[in-house]
Amino acid sequence: MGQDRISKEQHDYLAPLYPESGRMKNSKSLGEEIQKGFLSITFWEGQILNFLSQIIAPKKILEIGTFTGYSIQWLAKSVAPDTKIYTIESDSEHHARATKALNGFSGIQCLKGPAVEVLNDLKPKAPFDLIFIDANKNAYVEYLDWSTQHISKGGMIIADNVFLGGAVYQPGLETQYSPKQVETMRVFNKKITENPDFVSVILPTFEGLLAAYRKT
Ligand SMILES: C[S@@+](CC[C@H](N)C(=O)[O-])C[C@H]1O[C@@H](n2cnc3c(N)ncnc32)[C@H](O)[C@@H]1O
Repeated sequence: MGQDRISKEQHDYLAPLYPESGRMKNSKSLGEEIQKGFLSITFWEGQILNFLSQIIAPKKILEIGTFTGYSIQWLAKSVAPDTKIYTIESDSEHHARATKALNGFSGIQCLKGPAVEVLNDLKPKAPFDLIFIDANKNAYVEYLDWSTQHISKGGMIIADNVFLGGAVYQPGLETQYSPKQVETMRVFNKKITENPDFVSVILPTFEGLLAAYRKT
């Protein structure tokens, strides 16, 4: 979310190579109207998501935490037309803005409700080939447990904010996150990196972007 460590020169060089669609730009502006700090992933993280998604070539994508629908568009950008894509959002205003921004983007279903409940309803659609976790941090371990049970072999779990602004590795650092959220994220990172079914990496973005590939 938020903090872009990309210089203007880097952005101006990369933007034509990895263009954002008009709909992506619309999602961004709808998000900025609500939250100036912008909750969505950055342009650069979007390219990483798109790259990983193209490698996995998913038939089913699931995102937990839609906001205004920016990241789901990077995940969905280059997939096969029959790919099923679900994204979950609990906040009514965010959900309404995402639905508006994604209008006409075929294949993406914006599901409204608390993720834990929606995930329960989605069990019959599993397994998913790509799951992106980017919602309330206090439930990351629950989301991870659900995801490790419902990801396909050869699929990938991606999670944003696994550094929690640096709080997970720098005790005492003042951040917006509570000690409980920090502890939850430490458990999350330990669980996925120690899981023998996955090979994983935490990409050193400012927020920390974890990608875990299910190999067995
Ligand atoms: C960081 S934002 C998601 C940004 C989005 N993935 C992007 O990059 O464009 C997190 C979103 O999760 C939503 N959220 C928070 N708690 C949730 C819950 N329990 N269930 C579903 N969504 C939740 C918030 O309302 C917010 O819109």
